Amino acid sequence: MRSSAALAALAALWAGAVTAMPALPRSSDVDTSSNPLPSSFKWVSTGPLVGPKADDRNIAGIKDPTVVKIDGTYHVFASTAKSEGYNMVYFNFTDLYSAGSAPFYYLDQAPLGYGYRAAPQVFYFEPHKLWYLVYQNGNAAYSTNPDISDPSKWTAPEVFYPNGMPKIIEDNIGDGYWVDMWVVCDEEEDPNKSLCHLFSSDDNGHLYRSETTRAQFPRGMSQPVMALRDDENKYALWEAACIYRVKGATGNQKYILIVEAFTADGHRYFRSWTSSSIDGEWIPLADTEANPFAGERNVVFEEGVEKWTRSISHGEVVRTEPDQTLTVDFSVPLEFMYQGVDPNAQTEYNALPWRLAMIKQLRD
Ligand SMILES: *[C@@H]1O[C@H](CO)[C@@H](O)[C@H](O)[C@H]1NC(C)=O
Ligand SMILES: *[C@@H]1O[C@H](CO)[C@@H](O)[C@H](O)[C@H]1NC(C)=O
Repeated sequence: MRSSAALAALAALWAGAVTAMPALPRSSDVDTSSNPLPSSFKWVSTGPLVGPKADDRNIAGIKDPTVVKIDGTYHVFASTAKSEGYNMVYFNFTDLYSAGSAPFYYLDQAPLGYGYRAAPQVFYFEPHKLWYLVYQNGNAAYSTNPDISDPSKWTAPEVFYPNGMPKIIEDNIGDGYWVDMWVVCDEEEDPNKSLCHLFSSDDNGHLYRSETTRAQFPRGMSQPVMALRDDENKYALWEAACIYRVKGATGNQKYILIVEAFTADGHRYFRSWTSSSIDGEWIPLADTEANPFAGERNVVFEEGVEKWTRSISHGEVVRTEPDQTLTVDFSVPLEFMYQGVDPNAQTEYNALPWRLAMIKQLRD
């Protein structure tokens, strides 16, 4: 599909999302006053907090953070990038401004092992009483660990798609990459009716979704479907999708989706959508460069911190409820850990000096 046809199709999809949901109360019946999501976001950013260590690893960038905060401790998993390739690292800290001195545990030292592993998502899967780390390794992979504080216990990778890249992705990926896997489960009590969903992106304008029952998870992932697509502009629906359950929200704001996109002048920012269900239609919330979820236009920097990045790139809301429902309380100001980069850095993509930083939500 091209140009106006694609736009019309998208408009129809979104219009359909708003109106064609007979099973739900009409929007006029939904008490949105109790919904905690704002229609626009504002943030204040720290300077760069965490970068590569001066060690023999010669890492160029620390990227793609996933983070949970438990009893005051931030637990962060992130990608380590350099020209030679990717792996991952774990560290923890209690004081944000001392994060840079937290020791690194490189996850290739664990059974999780050497080789291409990147873009982690961490969560606690309650039915198994295990932490899961979901990441890309050419497939959609996971490792498990009973103790988030002991990174040496992460198991060897297993994959969600034992037959390799699903056909729908193969058919639509073009010259993109299959990246940024994300798991989120619903709250249904019956484990045979509850669904766990696996999202991924292709750097080609498509967001994919598979599902399996919570009873079967992590096995039994279905062939993916497209959850969202942009046929007009792949850079508007790029990668780094996160889906959260919005604590206490009703109607079509029960779930929020954020996806990373490019600004017109080539920097990164996040767009957002909401839905009444994880497999539902995604309705724009703050989804433009002018009114983003998080981007150059709605982020200021802390006093004394220079504007060191123009990209608010791949990152994650700091979750204090780490279970598989990915629940976030949007009624309190969020913290969002992201990767930023010196806009003047000139080098090949894998060697860019990405650093981790935090944006904190400003509320009116
Ligand atoms: C922080 O990580 C180290 C490993 O680098 C681990 O030994 C320690 O227990 C962790 N601390 C907490 C509070 O989880
Ligand atoms: C779920 O399905 C399995 C297999 O059919 C069955 O053994 C189990 O009892 C079911 N669990 C519940 C809670 O219904």
